[in-house]
Amino acid sequence: MRVGYLQFRPRFGEVERNCDRIVELLRGADADLIVLPELPFTGYYFRNRSELRRLAEVPSESSTVERLRDLCRSRGMYIVTGFAEKDGDRLFNSALLIGPRGLTWTYRKIHLFHLEKRWFDPGDLPLEVRRVRGVRVGMMICIDWVFPEVTRTLALQGMDLLVHPSNLVLGHCQGVMVSRCIENGVFAVTTNRYGEDKRPHGSIRFTGRSQIVAPDGGVLARSPSQREELVVREIDPAQARHKRITPRNHLLRDRRPEFYRLN
Ligand code: ACM
Repeated sequence: MRVGYLQFRPRFGEVERNCDRIVELLRGADADLIVLPELPFTGYYFRNRSELRRLAEVPSESSTVERLRDLCRSRGMYIVTGFAEKDGDRLFNSALLIGPRGLTWTYRKIHLFHLEKRWFDPGDLPLEVRRVRGVRVGMMICIDWVFPEVTRTLALQGMDLLVHPSNLVLGHCQGVMVSRCIENGVFAVTTNRYGEDKRPHGSIRFTGRSQIVAPDGGVLARSPSQREELVVREIDPAQARHKRITPRNHLLRDRRPEFYRLN
């Protein structure tokens, strides 16, 4: 599979313009699956929940989703993108899988970061693994990385590749994701945004350094902190399937859950 990311800087609130730019940048992409950052159309630093409500969209009525579907059709590829999702009165920080047939899968961020707890509702959908071109894909969003249970839960469902749309502001994630890949024997694409959301109520700067990591912890690609970049790498899912760290050690079967008290 050819998998990649687009490290991107949205302009806050300019949904259509951000979509124009993303579609233009991806028109030449030669990939099976491209991962976009968290909230790449709205931007991140909302003033309050009402402002988010004005910018969020219902996926089935969204021209953004339609345009990404058309792009997937013309390129024969899939896109995972962050998305400010409206569902009735509820608002979710979501990731969507869009392909030539349109939207086929939604993940709603289950661990909300800081002020997101004021803006969004916490995710209410189970962690799942689904096949994309024969590769078993799991999704999580940004601060979900702090909870190793997310990656482990997905690895136990057979995940080969973790896709991870992000708007990272802290500095540790990229390094930690190398460990997440080694301890679970999976590939991971962490797509971060860069730049700053400068708003009347303050500003937040994002840290870029999007990356693709292999099951052995090898960093297949990593971008600089403040640059737009489209990167694609070939990955072989077989590398994520043997799960052996020595002939006598298996990452998942050697677990001793009877010793783990997680609740
Ligand atoms: C984050 O979860 N956007 C830091």
